[in-house]
Amino acid sequence: MKDNKLNQLSNESDVISPKLDGKSTAVKVGIDLGTSRSAITTSKGERMVMASVVGWPKDAISAKVFGHRVLVGDAVLENRMGLQTCFPLADGNLAFTQNAGDQKETLRKAGLHLFTALRQAAKAAEGQSVHAVIGAPAEATRENKQAIIDLAREAGIDGVMVVSEPFAVAYALDALEDAMVVDIGAGTIDLCRMAGSLPDAEDQVTIFHAGNHVDARICELLREQRADIQFSPNMIKKAKERFSSVVDTNKRALVTFPVNGRPTEVDITDQIQTAVGELVPHIVDGIQKLVSTFDPEFQHRIRSRVIVSGGGSQVYGLQEALEKGLEDLGGGRVMILDDPVFAGSQGALKLALEMPAEYWEQL
Ligand SMILES: Nc1ncnc2c1ncn2[C@@H]1O[C@H](COP(=O)(O)OP(=O)(O)OP(=O)(O)O)[C@@H](O)[C@H]1O
Ligand SMILES: [Mg+2]
Repeated sequence: MKDNKLNQLSNESDVISPKLDGKSTAVKVGIDLGTSRSAITTSKGERMVMASVVGWPKDAISAKVFGHRVLVGDAVLENRMGLQTCFPLADGNLAFTQNAGDQKETLRKAGLHLFTALRQAAKAAEGQSVHAVIGAPAEATRENKQAIIDLAREAGIDGVMVVSEPFAVAYALDALEDAMVVDIGAGTIDLCRMAGSLPDAEDQVTIFHAGNHVDARICELLREQRADIQFSPNMIKKAKERFSSVVDTNKRALVTFPVNGRPTEVDITDQIQTAVGELVPHIVDGIQKLVSTFDPEFQHRIRSRVIVSGGGSQVYGLQEALEKGLEDLGGGRVMILDDPVFAGSQGALKLALEMPAEYWEQL
């Protein structure tokens, strides 16, 4: 077994109350930086979630309507028609790190605006430092982690540490051993097994097939099967979040979408169920990969505590579907989190609070 680095971390934590620059205690924050939404929990007891999207006025008229402001978060989605919108994250990574075209600088700026909004949400007093632990996908590239640190610093966050999203969730729950966390997000599904020490690369798996992919599949199926219906990806996402299920129920997914401009009730139960159901084998494969490569003596322990978080954990019937999928592979017990929105940022905050003072000073 590996050294118990985690215990060291929590033991040292008891004595920490960092006074930085001799001025004031820094605000500690945990941030779950998500493709679809980002959550922040602070040591002042604040918590907030915002859509990870940035918008600029499209032209002179929209500048008159919205002012020359940059909007961040849900307001952008509500005013989409008058704005040029930009999602700074794609597939769990800062999109500008993967883009070599003319959009690169725009994507980078959008990322900076998102971090600035998160920095503001920390509600630090004037001159007070902000220290953040930020959750990113398990297999985020080194380049992406560095980009997160650089942008956060540029936005005025003084100390930054990046950890994997599912590890942050495990930390929130104190599930530090004999457990596995599966975080089903919009861009990625991240899995991490916990064996009583800091997880290494081989303890983690990222699957690039998550909520956004499901939305795209529902759109594709509807276009194939009901070419007369008019819809936007955002309408599909909302319908999915309302009606997603992987089991047959009597509840039909009835939505009112335009057909030739006329509001019409349509049943999209089958399309949603098909697209959402396609996630299950991917998740089961990921779980099995982490179980089968673990110490054979302890495999049964991690398979009997699979904790599922992230927005995608809210799919109706998911627990049963995953347990059924695991049956043929040796079985497993699955738990779905009650508070999937803030679990990651809460765990990240806990880490930030327990981080030794010298650590932040070194940063
Ligand atoms: N009830 C629901 N059923 C199915 N999917 C849902 C439900 N509620 C939210 N989602 C989906 O969960 C995803 C958002 O989850 P979450 O906020 O955990 O992702 P994220 O952190 O933004 O993404 P990532 O972790 O990949 O960067 C979206 O794809 C959203 O549509
Ligand atoms: Mg996430």
